Amino acid sequence: MKRILITGGAGFIGANFVHYLIEHSDAEITVLDALTYAGNKESLRGIPAARLHLVVGDITDAPLVGQLVAAADAVVHFAAESHNDNSLFDPRPFLDTNVVGTYTLLEAVRRHDTRFHHISTDEVYGDLALDDPARFTESTPYNPSSPYSSTKAASDLLVRAWVRSFGVRATISNCSNNYGPYQHVEKFIPRQITNILHGVRPKLYGAGANVRDWIHVEDHSSAVWEILRRGTVGRTYLVGADGEKSNREVLGLILGLMGQDPGAFDTVADRAGHDLRYGIDATVLREELGWSPAHRDLSAGLARTIDWYRRNPWWWEGSKAGTEDRYLQQAAAQGAEGHGTGKIGDGA
Ligand code: NAD
Ligand code: TYD
Repeated sequence: MKRILITGGAGFIGANFVHYLIEHSDAEITVLDALTYAGNKESLRGIPAARLHLVVGDITDAPLVGQLVAAADAVVHFAAESHNDNSLFDPRPFLDTNVVGTYTLLEAVRRHDTRFHHISTDEVYGDLALDDPARFTESTPYNPSSPYSSTKAASDLLVRAWVRSFGVRATISNCSNNYGPYQHVEKFIPRQITNILHGVRPKLYGAGANVRDWIHVEDHSSAVWEILRRGTVGRTYLVGADGEKSNREVLGLILGLMGQDPGAFDTVADRAGHDLRYGIDATVLREELGWSPAHRDLSAGLARTIDWYRRNPWWWEGSKAGTEDRYLQQAAAQGAEGHGTGKIGDGA
């Protein structure tokens, strides 16, 4: 597996994976990335040109995808529209990239019999009650809530169908919420860190009771690399690091680490359809592949992440104002349209 094609390699997790491979392998990497608002080629700064080739293009472009897949030994597919809030206001790009883009890649790897790893999310399983002792496993039924998670679920099902129907050599990983360097400032943790750095109060949706299962992005990278090399074709692996925390707890840690008063935040209108809790049981990955996370202390990981955003404003300053403008527009649209929060079957 010398030549690896990485889609979405200029995004948060893709770029971290590229850096991980540069350090832990001798792979020659081609990144295919459309450089949407979420992509930033500066995230790949410093990587030697001999190891990395960046192709700016769209994963729905079948001739381009075919040409790049033909030259690769393996494909790792990170490219996606990835933000739930955006999916509530303009779902179309989510359909195009997450569904049609994944289909386009599957057809190419099918033609060239190329090993394929599909990156997905635990959000395909829907949410858990706050007090439910259960966590997601590989056999939890799919039950996505948002346009984002439903398009990711659709893409997972396409991969499974291409494995079963056409013998495509694919694996899937569904990971919990990632944090670390190079994450776009629209996401929860970097939004709050960069707000504080700008002297703006953090924004907590609703009461902040929603729980996310945090994993450091480097641990996600090590898991994907293990699965790509040693995973069983056709299998799904859940990736998580036992990092469940409520949003209020995470914000409390950030405020404390940044020397702020514990109450120095605003609560704002809740996200429509907001998933309550995600929680991953990664036993299969741990037992079958012997994987374990290196970052187990969320507070220490957050401290390093805060330090990274403090030291690298050149990387995020350019997207901060536009992101906050988008949030204002979305809040205005939500007020005007009155988005629903109902669930089928709840009689809501
Ligand atoms: P991101 O939004 O930071 O990056 C996505 C990248 O894909 C960007 O570089 C963007 O330019 C590129 N892209 C988007 N549309 C494209 C297209 N049509 N053609 C080519 N490139 C395109 O996302 P992320 O947080 O790094 O997530 C990466 C993957 O991991 C996604 O598949 C996401 O569903 C999954 N995931 C994310 C998380 C998380 O916590 N962020 C957790 C689990 C799984
Ligand atoms: P996010 O980073 O958007 O990831 P996801 O929706 O994939 O879980 O949000 C993480 C959690 O933080 C989620 O419960 C929504 C919440 N949140 C806030 O409270 N305030 C914010 O400003 C944002 C962006 C998210």
